Amino acid sequence: MPTVVYIDPRGAEHAVDAEVGQSLMQAAVRHGVPGVVGQCGGSLACASCHVYVREPWGERTGEVSDMEDDMLDGAMAERRPESRLSCQVQVRDDLDGLTVEVAPEQL
Ligand code: FES
Repeated sequence: MPTVVYIDPRGAEHAVDAEVGQSLMQAAVRHGVPGVVGQCGGSLACASCHVYVREPWGERTGEVSDMEDDMLDGAMAERRPESRLSCQVQVRDDLDGLTVEVAPEQL
């Protein structure tokens, strides 16, 4: 099972065993990672799952869709080049070690 590391807004690290096929948001919520809300359940309607993907993982998490792009424009926290909505990134075996920072404001 791949391990995903979330760095919460206070700087604490949370290493989570994430199931392949779940989203990064689902894995974070299931393991109680502070700061990831996932209010809309992953339907691209809230941006409360905003994270910053640490290098070198950015390219490996795939493309940002047009809808995700629009939602990121309206996110509460600063949008950065490494911003993603974690409900749009699926856990895969080759993402073992993926590290993301949780955006400081979600709602
Ligand atoms: Fe709502 Fe990701 S959980 S957009």
